[in-house]
This record gives sequence, structure tokens and C-alpha cells, in this order.
Amino acid sequence: MRFCPRLSFVSRKTIVSATPIAPISQQFRPLRIGNVEIGFPVVQAALSGYSDWPMRMLARRHGASYALCEVMLDHFLVNLKDRKRTSHFLHLSGEDHPVGGQLMGAEPEQFSAGAMKLVEAGFDVIDINFGCPVRKVLGRCRGGFHLSQPIVALEIVRRTRDSVPPNVPVTVKMRRGIDDTNESRDRFFEILDGAFAAGVAAITVHGRTVEQRYIGPSRWEFLREVKQHVGEKTILGSGDLFTPADCLRMIRETGIDGVTVARGAIGNPWIFSQTRSLAETGELPAPATIYEQRAVILEHYQLAESLYGLDKVGPQMRKFGIKYAVLHPQYEEVREDFAKARTFDDWNGVLMRWYAKEGPGVYSDGRAHKAQGSLECG
Ligand SMILES: Cc1cc2nc3c(=O)[nH]c(=O)nc-3n(C[C@H](O)[C@H](O)[C@H](O)COP(=O)(O)O)c2cc1C
Repeated sequence: MRFCPRLSFVSRKTIVSATPIAPISQQFRPLRIGNVEIGFPVVQAALSGYSDWPMRMLARRHGASYALCEVMLDHFLVNLKDRKRTSHFLHLSGEDHPVGGQLMGAEPEQFSAGAMKLVEAGFDVIDINFGCPVRKVLGRCRGGFHLSQPIVALEIVRRTRDSVPPNVPVTVKMRRGIDDTNESRDRFFEILDGAFAAGVAAITVHGRTVEQRYIGPSRWEFLREVKQHVGEKTILGSGDLFTPADCLRMIRETGIDGVTVARGAIGNPWIFSQTRSLAETGELPAPATIYEQRAVILEHYQLAESLYGLDKVGPQMRKFGIKYAVLHPQYEEVREDFAKARTFDDWNGVLMRWYAKEGPGVYSDGRAHKAQGSLECG
């Protein structure tokens, strides 16, 4: 069964499936990562520059059962002092659990120390990044570079697993290889199998190669192959999840245990509640109205201000405003207005101009995010 991924706003409840869908419990197994119970298997991905505490809080308040923090360098963590300028990276709160902290680096020894910093800060799961395709990162032998060197990659996994307390699961994020060669594929499976043998609790696979960056689609057939290969072990999928229907379709088509929503959740925390509703009822709730959007944008602003302070909140929020604009029927104009906002007054002006009158919103179909693709870290 397929859902229409690009529904336009029709009514409060839009029926997208003619055939009734079996109850959620029968279709989507609750996700578990090691001993950490997650629940509904649609979670917030790690997003450098985005998945900070305010974004994670909104994702959770809209139903994301698990969220990952943006990636951090191992030596950054090791040298991190309790300074105001950087303390926001490790900021967690009671509502923000279970939460994954993600590490990236070059040297196996440094990973253990970095991982312990994350454990001390209160992260429930430690995730290792073997996916980042950014040129500078690869040049420093970090991120996706490790997919070309299984021996070092597995040494990193083993050392991290050994240093982290046994009750804290360690997981890995990988792309499907460096490139499309057979050699790259063999290395992918060597790292995958070796990492599970070393005790990792789950592996997230982004179905693009490092060389591919964000050009072309994520290969979902590869995810199915990976899941068949590992059997009962836990695999999460990533790549091209822009609508609730995409999230459910990836699980159904590949048999994986859960999905991590990345670009599709920036400026759209409703993707989590809408996906739950779609799974439970077969119906997609109407898109967030203008007032609902305004309330969430303000909530986001307040959370960000409480974390970053008055001076830094503006630039931090501008990039989110641009993404929230996608859900507004006058996307282009609203986007442009958010892009110019610098101060709180500018920001307020945008809300007054575009969000002062109630009306229907629109669904995001991912178009605005697909253009993004050069600086991303997984
Ligand atoms: C802005 C941005 C930042 C990202 N940062 C991270 C990161 O810190 N760690 C990570 O594992 N993946 C990161 N990724 C990769 C995403 O988690 C995800 O795997 C990828 O975007 C594919 O999913 P999508 O096509 O649904 O966006 C990032 C992606 C983007 C767009």
C-alpha cells in the first residue's frame, strides 16, 4: 500500500488510505535500543547546527520518542570547559530523555574520553558518527572517512564500547559506503558485522554514499538488504524522510526497526505527531494552522532564548524561521521575511505580518530541504 506523499490541504481530517490500516501495535513494533525503551519507532535524527535542546524539546512535545543531539568532536568534548559560550552543547533537561549524544573523531583513544564526557553529561545512548561527508571532515580522517578503514573503525567501536558503562548503549551511524564500488560495499558489511560483534546495540544506515553527499536519492533497497543480513539486530534507516507517509513506507518496505527523521523535521515538529496519527488511524491530520504554527515558533524562540541568551537567539532562530515558513501558504514571502530578521523586533514583525490571522497551513513535501546539502554531517 502506498500513501500519496504530496497531499494538499483538504479538510480537518484527510483520508489517505482507502483500505483500513491494521492497528499500530500490529504494524510497527516499538523500538528498543539495548536496554533503552524508545517506543514508537520514528525518532529525531542528529542534525549538526539544528538538533540542539530547543529543537529536541519541540520534537518530543510533538511525539518523537527519542532524539539525537548534533554531532560533537571527541577532542572538543575532552577539552570542554564549563564555559557559557559552549555549555549549550551538553544542555539536557528532564523532559529530554532518552537522548543520544553523537561523537566524531579520528583517533580511537580520543573516542573513549569523549564518550565518557557524554555519559557524564547524562546522555542515555552514545552514537558514533561514520557518516559525515563534509570535505574538511574527511580530510581530517573523521566521519565518513572511517568507512574506508574497517580496522580503525572497529577499533574505535571497541574502545568506545569498552569505556562506556555496560548499561549505556553504544550505536553507530553509517552511510552505505564511501562510493559504489564492491570494495566499499565489502567494507561496509565488515564494519556493520564487526560493530554488532563488538556489542553495539543498533546501527543507523543512511542510504547514500559519502561520495554522493546529498545528490540523488537514498537507496532504500540497500536498507532492506542490511536488515535481512542482520536478522534480529536493530537497524534504523535514514534518507529522504520528508512526510509522515515516507516514514511509514520506509519501515514497511525495508523491514527496519525504526527511522530517523532529519531534514524533514527542521521547522516541522508536527511530522512526529502526524506520523503517529497516520500509523494509528490511517488518517493524516490536517496541517498545523497559522495560529498553531505561530504558537510553536514562539515556543521555539523562548526555548532558544533561555538557552542561548538574548544576544545569540536571533541568528540561531533565523535558520529555523526559514524552515517554518515552508508550512505557510505564502512560503516565498514569509521565507524572505524570516531571512532578513535580526533582532527580536524584526522577528516579532514577521509574526505580526504573516501569522496574525488564523487560517489553514500546508504540508511540507521536502522540496525546500532537498536544496540543502553541502555542509551536512551525516
Ligand atoms: C543540516 C544537517 C546536519 C546534519 N548533521 C548530522 C549529524 O550531526 N550527525 C549525523 O549523524 N548526521 C547528520 N546529518 C545527516 C542526517 O541525520 C540524515 O542522515 C541525512 O540528512 C539523510 O536524511 P534526510 O534525507 O531525511 O535528510 C545532517 C544532515 C543535515 C541536513
